[in-house]
Amino acid sequence: MDRLPIFQKQIDQSLQQVVIPESPSTLYSPVRYILSLGGKRLRPVLTLMTCDFFNQDYKKALPAAMAMELFHNFSLIHDDIMDEAPLRRGNETVHQKWNVNTGILSGDALLILAYQLFEGYKPKTFRNLAKLFSTTALQVCEGQQMDMDFEKRDDVTISEYLKMIEYKTAVLVAASMKMGAIVAKVKKSTQEMVYEFGRNLGIAFQLQDDYLDAFGNPETFGKQIGGDIIENKKTYLFLKAIEFATSLQREEMLLLFNSQPKDVTSKIERVKKLFVETGSAQATQEAIEDYTKKAFKVLKKLPVNETDKFFLKQFGKSLLKRRV
Ligand code: IPE
Ligand code: IPE
Ligand code: MG
Ligand code: MG
Ligand code: MG
Repeated sequence: MDRLPIFQKQIDQSLQQVVIPESPSTLYSPVRYILSLGGKRLRPVLTLMTCDFFNQDYKKALPAAMAMELFHNFSLIHDDIMDEAPLRRGNETVHQKWNVNTGILSGDALLILAYQLFEGYKPKTFRNLAKLFSTTALQVCEGQQMDMDFEKRDDVTISEYLKMIEYKTAVLVAASMKMGAIVAKVKKSTQEMVYEFGRNLGIAFQLQDDYLDAFGNPETFGKQIGGDIIENKKTYLFLKAIEFATSLQREEMLLLFNSQPKDVTSKIERVKKLFVETGSAQATQEAIEDYTKKAFKVLKKLPVNETDKFFLKQFGKSLLKRRV
């Protein structure tokens, strides 16, 4: 039952139908711009797919799916400001194309537009969706703040890192799926299982994003390769490199991660080499596998038919082998 292309087509159509005001165009053009750049549409796909698994008309989940994609795009605009990123989906970031203030306010507008999409649901469903949305959005803020705080620290632990990526990324993936389950009106314990699957998949997804940030193909990745290295991000790659390093390697790594050189090319090359030499690149791949397996373990208990499980597993695998 490969309905993926149907979902993707539906998402593109529905995104075009989201009502975005015209004026002031300085506020809404960047909103249209970021949405027009595409992306994998992972979160809305998961919302529709989850609703569909529980034999409900996936179209009922469309407003919630759109809300998740709008929220995601809001978080990307603000994230790119915070990360000083020049490229997004192979194009200029919003703050680069316009300016930081435009990025802040257009991002805010997107967040509110996302919230409004829940208004069409009946009171009980609305309440459940809005509650989940607010909790999740706040966690994303907390995760993003941790991410920023960690840039300045040298003593971040793996467990702090895992909490940070759970909050900044995984909870949104998990909530996107749970929203599909809420719209399908399945019982709470099933909703929680769906959430747990998404949470583990989301952690694997962010680990893979961190890996690609260093080792992805610049032609296809759509973001600046080495952006995390430039910003001294405390990724799994970095933390494991420090853990596995000889004292000489550790010293070099810490020196590199406390520098802000004008010419970043040699910093990036040197750090990537250390990621490989210390075995942290390999360890990151293994962690991606582990979290994918954790997700699949939850899947075993989920009350959906075997064909759908197989499909979700294939989808999960393809996601974590992705190059973009
Ligand atoms: C990017 O998300 C931000 C992360 C949480 C890693 P995606 O990789 O889903 O970005 P798009 O929407 O496909 O561009
Ligand atoms: C993004 O993490 C998480 C959110 C946008 C909330 P990253 O900073 O790694 O995402 P990319 O790599 O810029 O897409
Ligand atoms: Mg970023
Ligand atoms: Mg970031
Ligand atoms: Mg990233």
